[in-house]
Amino acid sequence: MTEQLFKQAKDKLQEIKDYLVANNAELEQFRIAFLGTKNTIRPLFSEIRNIDNARKKEYGQLVNELKQTAEERFEQLKGGLTSAATEHVEKPDLTRSVNANNIGTRHPLSLVQEQICDIFKRIGFTISEGPQIENDFHNFTALNFPPHHPARDMQDTFFISESEIALRTHTSSVQIRVMENSEPPFRTISPGRVFRNETISARAHCQFHQVEGLYVDKNVSLADLKQTLFFFANEMFGQGTKIRLRPSYFPFTEISAEMDISCFVCDQKGCNICKKTGWVEILGCGMVDPNVLNNCGIDSEKYTGFAFGMGVERIAMLKYKVNDIRLFFENDVRFLQQFASVV
Ligand code: PHE
Repeated sequence: MTEQLFKQAKDKLQEIKDYLVANNAELEQFRIAFLGTKNTIRPLFSEIRNIDNARKKEYGQLVNELKQTAEERFEQLKGGLTSAATEHVEKPDLTRSVNANNIGTRHPLSLVQEQICDIFKRIGFTISEGPQIENDFHNFTALNFPPHHPARDMQDTFFISESEIALRTHTSSVQIRVMENSEPPFRTISPGRVFRNETISARAHCQFHQVEGLYVDKNVSLADLKQTLFFFANEMFGQGTKIRLRPSYFPFTEISAEMDISCFVCDQKGCNICKKTGWVEILGCGMVDPNVLNNCGIDSEKYTGFAFGMGVERIAMLKYKVNDIRLFFENDVRFLQQFASVV
């Protein structure tokens, strides 16, 4: 009996030493068999009572060795699996083909906004920025739209209920901030995002971008406004572009005008971009109303100024023949990538 039990324990010892695993599932089987709560080593301990007294000590040592060997073998097998996994990661497959990096492109609105700003920077305009969330004073009242004035209907916006806070409807609000905080002369443009309560369609959106300009100094005249905008139109749409001013109305300018440029698509022969008129409207402009200067603490007896404002989307749509304003906000890469070559 004693001999038989010794043989059984020694066989098990050998079995543990020779044990191999190929994956984590097999390692778990080893753990259950030799280290788990119902392991196969434990019953060998209770066999000690069947061993001849003289050899009990020797048997005790053998089964203890079994237990210890099982623990050591478990660690060895586990180590073997993890190093095999790491080895795999460390050896990249050098024959694999290279995936080209998907490099993004600049958004067409950023490109056009920058083109507009660059043209005005070259003739001495600075860039001014202001908040998109505005108060009533900067967006309307200071610009000569008093509360309840019907002209406010021209630019309905998103008000935060019961408060004087609204999303700005134009970047003219930035021009007010410039005039409040510095002394003339100023020659500045204000690019940025604006918001209006408009039904979204191919032509209109509830958010868009503007670049507005302001020039205040002594003796600024309508001739200065015309020459500045003529320069801009030729730089933006090509030399030879003609401009015309048509009378219009804005509360903050007196006189006010819309500016058209000669149609660069058909060369004024008549097409569907210019609706067969030969002219396309691109911006609003005028001489700053003296009330606006006074509202900002500027002496309107001493200073005069001109202002203009244009929609970046409108210019981009004309220049790149985009027929739906919603495309600018959908982030469809098939649309955006078409501007990859614009510099
Ligand atoms: N602020 C006007 C608009 O958003 C544009 C404009 C600016 C017109 C300056 C005249 C002078 O419609």
